Amino acid sequence: MKKDVLSVLDLSREELFEILALADKLKSDRKAGVFPDLLHKKSLGMIFEKASTRTRISFETGIFELGGHPLFLNPGDMQLGRGEVIADTAKVLSRYLSAIMMRSYRHSTVEELASHSTIPVINGLSDEEHPCQILADIMTIREHFGNDKEDLTIAWVGDGNNVCNSLMLSSALTGYRINVATPPEYAPSGKYIEMAIRAGAMVNLFNNPEEAISDADVIYTDTWISMGCEDEKEARISAFKNYMVNDSLLGNCGKDAIILHCLPAHRGEEISDEVIDGPMSRVWDQAENRLHAQKALLVKLLE
Ligand code: CP
Ligand code: NVA
Repeated sequence: MKKDVLSVLDLSREELFEILALADKLKSDRKAGVFPDLLHKKSLGMIFEKASTRTRISFETGIFELGGHPLFLNPGDMQLGRGEVIADTAKVLSRYLSAIMMRSYRHSTVEELASHSTIPVINGLSDEEHPCQILADIMTIREHFGNDKEDLTIAWVGDGNNVCNSLMLSSALTGYRINVATPPEYAPSGKYIEMAIRAGAMVNLFNNPEEAISDADVIYTDTWISMGCEDEKEARISAFKNYMVNDSLLGNCGKDAIILHCLPAHRGEEISDEVIDGPMSRVWDQAENRLHAQKALLVKLLE
């Protein structure tokens, strides 16, 4: 039966760790110049309603390196842009392709695509979740702290957005504790907090970023203005002004933590130059790991 990955919770703990183990193997193979043809003749369609650098290029390169073929699909160039419905698009694409990745505004769009497709559908970011990002994040954390270390605290500082939702859910699989520091009006939605807690996640909510990071091993931030929220820019910049991850905030961190950011970064807003370019930053490894983690995900879904 086909399997979709629309949410982090579409993966079990075992599946997550299998994917990460394969991602580690594919990473070392690639560094040795070895490119196993695990997805020979498979095609991945990638529908992007929103901009992307990392997701597009890592998926395109990833399926190519595995012996398959990527198709970048802009809804404006497809009949989708002229009113063909998602359900019909899903049925037709299922006759041509091996899998579909979609980056959508509404989470319900990627759910609808999956419900009418007979091939695996991967969420490449929606307004509610970003599961592919979290695979790379956990891979990066394990590279730094070791695969067996579960006793870790991750502090999220900023907006309670799609990446934050997926990170909270992932705690139910990894056992990492998640501290989330947001302004009160930008806390994660009750729906995702409840979903995370029900799944067994350990999530603590804060308004004060100093408190949230005081015992953190990992400090993670993201834009204050996600794609689709551009109209709220002024209000958001003002609400988040005390949430920048900079040297002054990190002075409150009790441990030798690492810094993550899913990128793109807005330097001088949610993160300072000295932090993103500094010795604690692992953001470039994190970005690279999108490639290896997604290759492993594709192999698991399509093998
Ligand atoms: N982190 C991430 O998904 O980046 P892109 O928006 O560039 O794909
Ligand atoms: N939260 C950001 C993530 C970008 C990768 C957004 O949705 O725009």
